Amino acid sequence: MDRNNLLHEKFSDVLIEIPFAGDFFESQGLDVPQGSVAEFVNSLSEAKMEDLGIDPDEFLDNFVSFVEAVGSLTEKTSRIDSLKIIGGINKSGEQENFELEIKAGEVICIVGPTGSGKSRLLADIEWMAMGDTPTKRHIKINGSDPDKSWRFSPEHKPVAQLSQNMNFVMDLSAKEFVMIHAESRFIRDSQEKVDLIIQKANELAGEQFTADTPVTSLSGGQSRALMIADTAFLSKSPIVLIDEIENAGIDRKKALELLVGEEKIVLMSTHDPILALMGDKRLVIKNGGVHDIITTSDKERGNLVGLQELDQKLQDLRNRIRS
Ligand SMILES: Nc1ncnc2c1ncn2[C@@H]1O[C@H](COP(=O)(O)OP(=O)(O)OP(=O)(O)O)[C@@H](O)[C@H]1O
Ligand SMILES: [Mg+2]
Repeated sequence: MDRNNLLHEKFSDVLIEIPFAGDFFESQGLDVPQGSVAEFVNSLSEAKMEDLGIDPDEFLDNFVSFVEAVGSLTEKTSRIDSLKIIGGINKSGEQENFELEIKAGEVICIVGPTGSGKSRLLADIEWMAMGDTPTKRHIKINGSDPDKSWRFSPEHKPVAQLSQNMNFVMDLSAKEFVMIHAESRFIRDSQEKVDLIIQKANELAGEQFTADTPVTSLSGGQSRALMIADTAFLSKSPIVLIDEIENAGIDRKKALELLVGEEKIVLMSTHDPILALMGDKRLVIKNGGVHDIITTSDKERGNLVGLQELDQKLQDLRNRIRS
């Protein structure tokens, strides 16, 4: 909708196409226009305009800017078909000599000893590295350099990240926290989404928490579970970065199933052989560099079944000891 339509079409028609346009008036304590926005502004008394502290032209400009700004936030992030990592240097300054193209729908696992550089690789992707990180790696999106706005403005970043260490600093209930996130993303059925997220988070976590539990009293595992469910249901980001979900004591398989989507590119660092074999490929990191790229073989996938049975036994044992 262009400026002319925005200002001169009947506002009820504008609202059909742009449901959030009414928020502009509501937030200033004004009634929603009956006719067009331009007519509405002309009908406001001089005293009212003085109250608002702006002149009619400014008011119209502000309305158009509001619609444009919010519109760009709610737009679906542009499609990402591929992400390419171009090697840089390891901790000793030696060339990595690799290029890896990851296609939408693929899950790539990152394995390697503690301190080898798994989180660093995820950070390179999150930062859309262009030779300007300690590893000197480059990231290409759909074959080209990443858009500037993706690199520098968080609201445009096509990346959702579940980091290894997290702390809540806000004094909100779980429900309020998720609701603020849903509203900031202009999710229409936000109440339903909030209920769903808290339910799903509880399915991942051990001890249950309620919608009214303050986020600051959630345990480490419960916090991760809440953030996983939140990312799964509120984020449209086509790239998902996960830094170790296994230590949180949550249901890892369920968590991964929630996060993986047909259209998504998922990179996950992990020390867990089961998660590592669930990926399509694994990147082996050593001394800060990519040491090997291994495609999960059919034999490994076959072994996965046996591993999962073993793991289930251990989990049952763990639960028996816990209770
Ligand atoms: N190629 C590199 N050049 C320089 N520094 C690097 C490189 N790769 C990793 N590092 C640095 O090494 C340190 C350890 O890396 P990182 O935190 O990524 O390890 P990790 O594999 O995630 O370990 P953990 O399993 O304990 O989480 C970090 O300070 C990181 O910035
Ligand atoms: Mg790490």
